[in-house]
Amino acid sequence: MKSNVAEILKSDTFLQEVTLKGWVRTFRSNRFIALNDGSTIKNIQCVIDFENTEEETLKRITTGAAIEVKGTLTESQGRGQSVEIQVSNIEILGDSNADEYPIQPKKHSFEFLRENAHLRVRTNTFSAVMRVRSKLSFAVHKYFQENGFNYVNTPIVTGSDAEGAGEMFRVTTFEDNKAPLTEDGNIDYTKDFFGKETNLTVSGQLEAETFAMALGKVYTFGPTFRAENSNTTRHLAEFWMIEPEVAFMDLDGNMDLSEDFIKSVLSYVLEHCKDDLEFLDQRLTQEEKSKPQAERSDMSLLEKLQFVVDNNFKRVSYTEAIDILRNSKPNKKKKFQFPINEWGADLQSEHERFLVEKHFKCPVILFDYPANIKAFYMRLNEDGKTVRAMDVLFPGIGEIVGGSQREERYDVLVDKIKAMGIDEKELWWYLDLRKFGTAVHSGFGLGFERLVQFATGMGNIRDVIPFPRTPQNAEF
Ligand code: 4AD
Ligand code: MG
Repeated sequence: MKSNVAEILKSDTFLQEVTLKGWVRTFRSNRFIALNDGSTIKNIQCVIDFENTEEETLKRITTGAAIEVKGTLTESQGRGQSVEIQVSNIEILGDSNADEYPIQPKKHSFEFLRENAHLRVRTNTFSAVMRVRSKLSFAVHKYFQENGFNYVNTPIVTGSDAEGAGEMFRVTTFEDNKAPLTEDGNIDYTKDFFGKETNLTVSGQLEAETFAMALGKVYTFGPTFRAENSNTTRHLAEFWMIEPEVAFMDLDGNMDLSEDFIKSVLSYVLEHCKDDLEFLDQRLTQEEKSKPQAERSDMSLLEKLQFVVDNNFKRVSYTEAIDILRNSKPNKKKKFQFPINEWGADLQSEHERFLVEKHFKCPVILFDYPANIKAFYMRLNEDGKTVRAMDVLFPGIGEIVGGSQREERYDVLVDKIKAMGIDEKELWWYLDLRKFGTAVHSGFGLGFERLVQFATGMGNIRDVIPFPRTPQNAEF
């Protein structure tokens, strides 16, 4: 017996008896129930013999109600569906008061749905996004497992500030105002449960490096936290990051890996999420129509995904990119909001998006950035002023990947740590890797939600994670 809507809709054996449990999406003419059980974006039509159904039961078939139907699968006369169920028995499992239920069968704003994050996954758009997210997660593990990588779980609570950027959530066991103080009046973290100041991880990279230097090829895939108050459509305070780290691999190998990995997981969802992606494609096409002609995308969602899978990413050095940006006229005012005047400046997202969307019109990997705008662990180039860093930039997203070849030379690394004012003693374990069997190695971090955004065409990163952590939404 077929057990869910996805399987039944694929079925061509009519007149079989089926039992289904799910939720009512709509109920028309006291006869037609559109039932959804989450297994697919599609609803199945269940036709009720209303003359033989009690009035009381009919009243309880409301949007959102949980029901069980038993019936016979028949060919459907309705448009856009091949099968339907002629219901012989219906049971209401859980009522849903139509007057109070927030998710009405109409279009709701994403803002409203974010406030109802516990219910929004019941809508078509969010259920599609979350199924694609789940399949993408699987594709991530499949890619690495099939390519000889070991999955490593790096700490969530840590004393390390991997990025040296200071955007961390502090973790402490001290109760309010009861922290013991040192003689000079500061909080004495040595008396804390962890015996030192700890925070939620901003990246598992440094710990992943320790594993790469023993297991060769590893990856992390876990929650990551940044206490940045950036109110953008690309930033979350809690997000999921995928961080592969590979021994004996240089920056070229790192670029190859990132490109191959992204293409592989996107082609996996193109193949395994057809219905959901078609739905999201149509949603986006509809949304695009409300924009002025000049701002509309010339490719549909499915075309964009296929384009990325089929075409090479363009590899450009930071220095080349700066030349392009200096000589470019991005808009009528012929200026970027932050004009690029000098070599050495960090790129803003307007520059990244210009390179990808207007200039090269394909994903771009920028490499060899100035040392002073990047983290301490990146390998210094022979020129003494650039490092073997890379960022992968995507259309509509900007930076999707940040990575580098790591500095494997003990002395160079120590100099760098000192020059950046980082306490060398804190990184004793990291420096040990350079003392004992050091080797060229590289890795990168990919923001999983940015990948889900690209795959689903969703404009706001808050709409591709089940429960976004934002100042407005933390009660869930
Ligand atoms: O460029 P980032 O900061 O690099 C690192 O953390 C390195 N330690 C990674 C490594 O080499 N192992 O972050 C990597 C990626 C970014 O490119 C972006 O996709 C994502 O993580 N990211 C965020 N995604 C959502 N919200 C935020 N606040 C993010 N910050 C970074
Ligand atoms: Mg970065």
